[in-house]
Amino acid sequence: MRVEDAHNIFDLREMAKRRLPKWLFEFVDRGTEEEVALHNNREAFERIKFLPRMLEDVSSRKLDTTIFGKEHKMPIGIAPTGAAGMMWYRGELELARAAKAAGVPFSLATGSITSMEEVAGEVGGTLWMQLYMWADRKLSHQVVRRAQAAGFEALLVTVDGVVAGNREYNKRNGFSVPFKYNSRNTTDVVMHPRWMLGTLGRYIANGGMPKRANFPDELQQNITTAYGGSKETRSDSLCWDDLKALRDIWPHKLLVKGLLHPDDAEKSLEYGADGIVVSNHGGRNCDSAPSPIEVLPSIVKAVGDRTTILFDSGVRRGSDVVKALALGAQMVLIGRSTLYGTAAAGEAGAARALEIYRGEISRSMAQICCNKVSDIGPQHVAYQESLTREWHKAAAGPEVVRLRA
Ligand SMILES: Cc1cc2nc3c(=O)[nH]c(=O)nc-3n(C[C@H](O)[C@H](O)[C@H](O)COP(=O)(O)O)c2cc1C
Repeated sequence: MRVEDAHNIFDLREMAKRRLPKWLFEFVDRGTEEEVALHNNREAFERIKFLPRMLEDVSSRKLDTTIFGKEHKMPIGIAPTGAAGMMWYRGELELARAAKAAGVPFSLATGSITSMEEVAGEVGGTLWMQLYMWADRKLSHQVVRRAQAAGFEALLVTVDGVVAGNREYNKRNGFSVPFKYNSRNTTDVVMHPRWMLGTLGRYIANGGMPKRANFPDELQQNITTAYGGSKETRSDSLCWDDLKALRDIWPHKLLVKGLLHPDDAEKSLEYGADGIVVSNHGGRNCDSAPSPIEVLPSIVKAVGDRTTILFDSGVRRGSDVVKALALGAQMVLIGRSTLYGTAAAGEAGAARALEIYRGEISRSMAQICCNKVSDIGPQHVAYQESLTREWHKAAAGPEVVRLRA
């Protein structure tokens, strides 16, 4: 099957599944523990319906969107994922090229394989850098300074991964970070020759096992190397003062990624953030987290008039993007969707994913009678009020939220 024949993101997912070893596909595709959050992210979108409008001329629809004073061609951006470079040889470059061609921002993850300097030098476009905090904060601050020197326009500090998600399936099928060879995962690789030769083989032929090129020099080892102690990328001592310290050294747009509570959104602004990403990490970390779309209205109510709100998690259709915009997000980040595309066919696959979104967002806008992204609002969704009411009831007391009611 060619990527042009993929009708939707689920078709690209199937193509990715065929090309990738099982351990790698599952690392991208699955959630954590019982995968309640992963499934709820999709179900929550299904529960929200449009309130379609009719008989308006929508023949001049435009998807252009302005974020931080800069115009983009669509109200979506690429979420940071440490995995693009494992989907395809130097997959970050492929994905960044597709993003640039589509006129949308690209976020590069701390754990990427391609360096931020190469992405900026070889591709360009609107580039945002994601940051994880090492227990040794100096290491993270080095990454921040490099991102500034490389010309990145925004820093996304991820705060919902202070401990690793409990991904039991990874352990079962022989995948770990750092990567360790064993008979299970090696057989799996051999059974997927297109990935073995086209991705892993090309890294090995061009200098050895892939490295995390954005890690500070002292951590520059390949993906099979363990770190430990203060050199771990996750830090369970991460706190508001860290945000303040980042604000002091980062002169451009600063976003806090991974918030689900209006009070945390409020506090992020107090500590100098320019925006937030309402996200549950695609259901990969805390299995009991609500879907971000369920809590978005309460966050918009608290800080929507004072900051830029981005949204991610569970988005697979253009209609999901439009629902998040209707509930108050200004831009929607997509994670797995473009990873599936990159895994299927590099830049062409990522471009196909973005093309699918463009078509679906445009179709949804027509169906609710919107010519511009800024026309999309809460009046276009049903059940929005009940979502908000349920959240506020829950926030006010120990009442059980019945979002399914
Ligand atoms: C394979 C994979 C790796 C990810 N790596 C990171 C990361 O390094 N930093 C980060 O902030 N988020 C990371 N994320 C989360 C994404 O940025 C985003 O929040 C999530 O994918 C959105 O959900 P979706 O995949 O349903 O669109 C990762 C997600 C996936 C699927």
